[in-house]
Amino acid sequence: MSNKSYNIAVIPGDGTGPEVVNEGIKVLNAAASKFGFKLNYQNFDFGGERYKKTGETLPDSAIEDVKKFDSIFLGAIGHPDVKPGILEVGILLKMRFALDQYINLRPVKLYPGVETPLKDKGPEDIDFVVVRENTGGIYTGVGGAVQVGTPYEVATQVMVYSRPVVERCIRFAYEYTRKRNKRKQLTLVHKCNVLTHCGDLWVRTHKEVGEEYPDIKQDYNHVDACNMWFVKSPEFYDVIVTENLFGDIITDLGAMIQGGLGIAAGGNINPEGVSMFEPMGGSAPKYAGKNVINPLAAICAGGMMLDTLGETEAALAIDKAVSNALGSKQIKSLAAGQMGMGTKEIGDLIAKSL
Ligand code: IPM
Ligand code: MN
Repeated sequence: MSNKSYNIAVIPGDGTGPEVVNEGIKVLNAAASKFGFKLNYQNFDFGGERYKKTGETLPDSAIEDVKKFDSIFLGAIGHPDVKPGILEVGILLKMRFALDQYINLRPVKLYPGVETPLKDKGPEDIDFVVVRENTGGIYTGVGGAVQVGTPYEVATQVMVYSRPVVERCIRFAYEYTRKRNKRKQLTLVHKCNVLTHCGDLWVRTHKEVGEEYPDIKQDYNHVDACNMWFVKSPEFYDVIVTENLFGDIITDLGAMIQGGLGIAAGGNINPEGVSMFEPMGGSAPKYAGKNVINPLAAICAGGMMLDTLGETEAALAIDKAVSNALGSKQIKSLAAGQMGMGTKEIGDLIAKSL
């Protein structure tokens, strides 16, 4: 019992975002009453609808508003009528960079009863975490384009990394590996055979910071080989740390081997500030309002949020409830409309079984 109270900024967002957020909050509230803490919510309407009405994505004043909260819970951003890039850059990336959420934490965990496309692999084989650097690299590097549309057009987008940005990410990853206390192995994923400058910075930092963590085994994979191992021998991994774009790419593959976007949750974490948690699935507008979308990823994102807030027991309980509901085949599939029950009913089931 912590008797604590947390203020959560909620951004339900677009499409099925609001529906999965509702179920996430249902489960969060059940966890709060069971484990003796309080959650207060305030909704923010950022997303495609607001953009269409006002032309506004995420105003600077909103950044100041959400900074006052203990955490942010996000549904999904993405609207079929809005050109790709506007909402992603204007809301999601802006929030990450403005709040310096420098870690993107993506557990890749196959729950019992969930189908993976990997033949002969089970929950004991697929259970690792990717620590993706979330504020640097090619996402925020310098670049530009000149003579656009002419035969001489030039475009550059440069991967930029500083030692402090690399080091804080790698340090987080070592700490996380230690706290996770499983195989105690931290694999750096990069492409140091080609990206000799940025790669070298990551490799040396991984090595040097690792000297402070003699209990953690250091390991390295090139990113192309890492893709291969995800499919061939996922059991090889415990914790992976990697730069922003490589992390973006490998975590989508990670989502697929853990059963798909219906279960993949992520955290955009500022360990010293305000973090934001989200299901990875997107807004899936064609399923909106039908009570057919799977809310488990949002529920798991809520669990990650509690863990980051320090409510570890409650987080573990949510994870266990999800695992039991899937393992017992009460939820038949993760795919929208094929779950054997509706969005709300899955929320009820998890909330009740806490
Ligand atoms: C993710 C997404 C984002 C990213 C997009 C929507 C900007 O793909 O969270 O992985 O590239 O980081
Ligand atoms: Mn991505």
